[in-house]
Amino acid sequence: MPLRIPPRTPLCPGARLGSRYRLICVAGAGGMSTVWRAHDERLERPVAVKVLSDALAGDPDAVARFIREAHTHAQIHHPNLVQVYDYRVTGDPRYLVMEYVDGCTLSRRLDRGSLSSGEVHTRASQLLSAVACVHDHHVLHRDIKCGNVLLDGEGNARLSDFGLARLEDSAPPSPAGEVVGTLRFLAPELLEGRPASRQSDLYALGVLLRAAATRAHVDPALGRAIRWLTEPDPEWRPSDARAVITALRNGQRHRDRPAPTRRIRSGAATRL
Ligand SMILES: Nc1ncnc2c1ncn2[C@@H]1O[C@H](COP(=O)(O)OP(=O)(O)O)[C@@H](O)[C@H]1O
Ligand SMILES: [Mg+2]
Repeated sequence: MPLRIPPRTPLCPGARLGSRYRLICVAGAGGMSTVWRAHDERLERPVAVKVLSDALAGDPDAVARFIREAHTHAQIHHPNLVQVYDYRVTGDPRYLVMEYVDGCTLSRRLDRGSLSSGEVHTRASQLLSAVACVHDHHVLHRDIKCGNVLLDGEGNARLSDFGLARLEDSAPPSPAGEVVGTLRFLAPELLEGRPASRQSDLYALGVLLRAAATRAHVDPALGRAIRWLTEPDPEWRPSDARAVITALRNGQRHRDRPAPTRRIRSGAATRL
């Protein structure tokens, strides 16, 4: 049943959240939230404050997802992930405080043209490393896409938005017609209603890299890595992100059409 939340004055520049975070201007918005550039007056540093949208504040499922996002995201630290500093998920508004990334999303960057092969190579290694770290925490991101990658001014790609992330053993198979994520980045098995997996995250990353590399000259190792990540059959994709980092670093060929992989419940994989 929807919660009854009294209407609140809309947030505006200058508003202070938690007697500490002074909102400056809107940095971006997504399906669930508005993200503000803000200033942390206690620690005297810029921050990004992600505020759950008013339309969703009374929806218990959306609130539960936002709480899960805050908790999940806050556990994982990596230089190519956006770092969470704080969150407040009781009261109104509900918000998540992150480091502010002064840059733009990869999708916005690609609107201006594709990246050079060298740059895609660098971004690929950074994002594969971030995804390996997420998976080490037994978390599936489930929404890897160009709009959820931020490029900072120092040449780093930062994976963000854990709004759909789930612990891997708790990600339920999606009933037909209720697939979560963004269509273009969805692995074929998800469209058949099979559960999300590390391999479906890797597929989305492959689609992202292919989008970033369009029209650029792609070196052969990167091209092979993208094809490996986007194999239609999840059994033929890499068993984990680090295998692709190694292949990229060594310029090595993965075995085309490797032997099918049987995964056991722990998430480990064995060759048949
Ligand atoms: N840490 C950040 N620093 C700067 N801008 C951000 C940050 N996080 C998100 N944004 C901006 O806000 C937009 C929406 O954020 P996102 O977390 O993807 O929200 P949603 O879950 O609603 O999709 C992003 O596309 C980006 O433009
Ligand atoms: Mg988003």
